[in-house]
Amino acid sequence: MKIRSIVSRPQIRILPDASALAETGADLCRQAALTQVREKGRFTLALSGGQTPRALHRLLAEEPYLSSMPWHKTHLFWVDDRMVPVDDPESNYGTAKRDFIDKIPIPSSHVHPMPVDLPAQTGAKRYASELRRFFKGASPILDLIFMGIGTDGHTASLFPGEAAPSGWVAAAKGGHPNVFRITLTFNLLNQAHQVVFLVSGKDKAKVVKAVLEDADPAFPAGGVQPTSGNLIWLLDPDAASLLKRKDPHAAGQ
Ligand code: 6PG
Repeated sequence: MKIRSIVSRPQIRILPDASALAETGADLCRQAALTQVREKGRFTLALSGGQTPRALHRLLAEEPYLSSMPWHKTHLFWVDDRMVPVDDPESNYGTAKRDFIDKIPIPSSHVHPMPVDLPAQTGAKRYASELRRFFKGASPILDLIFMGIGTDGHTASLFPGEAAPSGWVAAAKGGHPNVFRITLTFNLLNQAHQVVFLVSGKDKAKVVKAVLEDADPAFPAGGVQPTSGNLIWLLDPDAASLLKRKDPHAAGQ
């Protein structure tokens, strides 16, 4: 997979612990939401799966976020999902639904889960059409995307050794669980106004260094470089433990 090898201009913020990471993420989400709603009357947010973002998701259903987020003008999309039933603990949408969506006043028509009850290729085409409809044929520019990174350097369901898929949405297979998935592509991810990586834990330290300092092109997470939007990596001290530059407020490396 040919990806740009230098992870340019990310803002790296090292937070004191995992709960500060979640809180900072929730604050960034509210700030982006209020700005976008003020400027254009709506806010589009895309969520990743996995365990790291769950603390942030749960916070969004509690005060002060529950009543200060403009939920009635917010639209939720997914970065990726597994082709499993919604009630499966491995379902990214199902987990987010249980963690916070069922507890917030967001109109159901504003929640856009990926269609996982179809073959992955069909589901990917279906989701791309939904994005095309939502963005009225214009290129889908999401306001905020929360991303994670696997210990193998994957992000979304974009796995090492796989060719970067074309289009906006693709079918994939891999990860844990090793199942078929639907994923947004780099083409779509890199059009976003803002991308925020949430990374916590010692097991991520090596891959964080490889992506942020060694700019190792083998790791897909390094391919998320918004063309004009801003890129923030929120790390806890364990995830940042192998980084040479320890300036907790380093804006760009
Ligand atoms: C997925 C996720 C994935 C996730 C990383 C990190 O569906 O698998 O979207 O890309 O962000 O695997 O997951 P953890 O936060 O659980 O480490």
